[in-house]
Amino acid sequence: MKLFLDSAILDEIKLAAATGLLDGVTTNPTLIAKSGRKHEEVVAEIAAIVNGPISAEVLSTTTAEMLTEGKQLAKLHPNITVKLPMIVEAMPVVTQLAAAGIKTNVTLVFSVNQALLAAKAGATFISPFVGRLDDTGENGMQVVADIVQVFKHYKFSTQVLVASVRTPEHVRQAALLGADIATLPYLVFMELFNHPLTTAGVEKFLQDAGITPTKV
Ligand code: E4P
Repeated sequence: MKLFLDSAILDEIKLAAATGLLDGVTTNPTLIAKSGRKHEEVVAEIAAIVNGPISAEVLSTTTAEMLTEGKQLAKLHPNITVKLPMIVEAMPVVTQLAAAGIKTNVTLVFSVNQALLAAKAGATFISPFVGRLDDTGENGMQVVADIVQVFKHYKFSTQVLVASVRTPEHVRQAALLGADIATLPYLVFMELFNHPLTTAGVEKFLQDAGITPTKV
């Protein structure tokens, strides 16, 4: 399973990229606002750090405007993936960008039917939001399980990008279901490395070797 970082904070992205395990980055207008930087500037800088798909989201909602905006975003860097909301107006944009060789990520997916429609339109990625589904009392990972199964039936090449991840448990479940990608907040990404027995084991080995640990 590929791991993306869900962030527009360059320091976080650099730290995650330094592990050698980062496959891409997703951003959204909220994350860009938190970065305090200009959208196009920050997205181009991220693309220079991480050699993988970088999702940059459109801010318009009509078909014509999304198409123009998507093409502009795609010009920023060859790794830019145009992120579009799961609305009916975006579907022709997905199809036209795919025909132009531009990758798309259909975001704000909350149901199997939405995922099916976006895959039929030719989306490169679809992003089911598991955390937000869980917040409403639904089971986000069950929606992912259903999408994975449907995509297998019809051999869609669209990749399932599990988004709105809140915990390492979401990541474990996404991997068990065979999701293609999970996009993680920085803290969840770093939590994946930890286990108390690893920490204790490293400490004990160093102690037994007569070394005072500097940082474990
Ligand atoms: C994914 O592409 C989205 O940016 C993100 O995962 C949304 O997460 P949230 O529900 O925590 O805002």
